[in-house]
Amino acid sequence: MIEIKSNREIELIKEACKIVALVHKKMEEVIKPGISTGELDKIAEKVIRENGGIPAQKGYPSYQKGVPDFPSTICASINDEVIHGIPSNRVHLKEGDVISIDLVALKNGYNGDAARTFIVGKGSKEAEKLVDITQKAFFEGIKYAKPGYRIGDISHAIGEFVKKNGFSVVREFQGHGIGREMHEDPGIPNYGKAGTGPRIEKGMTLAIEPMVIAGKPDILELDDGWTIVTEDGSLSAHYENTILVTENEPKVLTIL
Ligand code: MF3
Ligand code: CO
Repeated sequence: MIEIKSNREIELIKEACKIVALVHKKMEEVIKPGISTGELDKIAEKVIRENGGIPAQKGYPSYQKGVPDFPSTICASINDEVIHGIPSNRVHLKEGDVISIDLVALKNGYNGDAARTFIVGKGSKEAEKLVDITQKAFFEGIKYAKPGYRIGDISHAIGEFVKKNGFSVVREFQGHGIGREMHEDPGIPNYGKAGTGPRIEKGMTLAIEPMVIAGKPDILELDDGWTIVTEDGSLSAHYENTILVTENEPKVLTIL
């Protein structure tokens, strides 16, 4: 069931989203060669708590038996890591690294979710194009996040844009509705057929998140049960925002 949010709920979701945007702004400032992903995680948690939020990813359960809960505030995924990388005090950023940061803040019972991919210092031409295309794919997708379209229209727009630019989308993970729960209906794949899937309506809050690979689309999961990497070792990027569907253009809630 896809929930339509009330005005009160929308105000609360906006507050959670604002915190996520503040964290990404801070991440952009502090990301430089030498800093560890463990340090980034501590900084992110501090910003969330200073703004009255709770880091919703910390303690998030795995769907797999025997895999511990996600231990951190942020997912920090470097280079061939696609998503769900676990921050560590032993992993230090280097010039040219491609690092995706994904996080969810909870405030007053409602969630906001966004991911960004940064290049540490100066990156390769390929890295720059990958990050650019991943971000643009999100904006291609949300052209269809309006009443009168269906979820498959968003999926199709993202998938076709990425393919046209010579990259691959991840098929095993997808965007999602968001609200009281981090993951709500509908699932929003990053590929698909136009004109299919649930109808989009005013008052839906959606996390739309292209996950893009420079090489082949295949992925692997590491032994930690969380980190997803590209099978061919090529670079990957992630760009996500929480949006609100309105009568007209969608509102992107995780950009200040
Ligand atoms: N923020 C992620 C998403 O976009 C979920 C992260 S999984 C967690 O859906 F374990 F880190 F919480
Ligand atoms: Co996310």
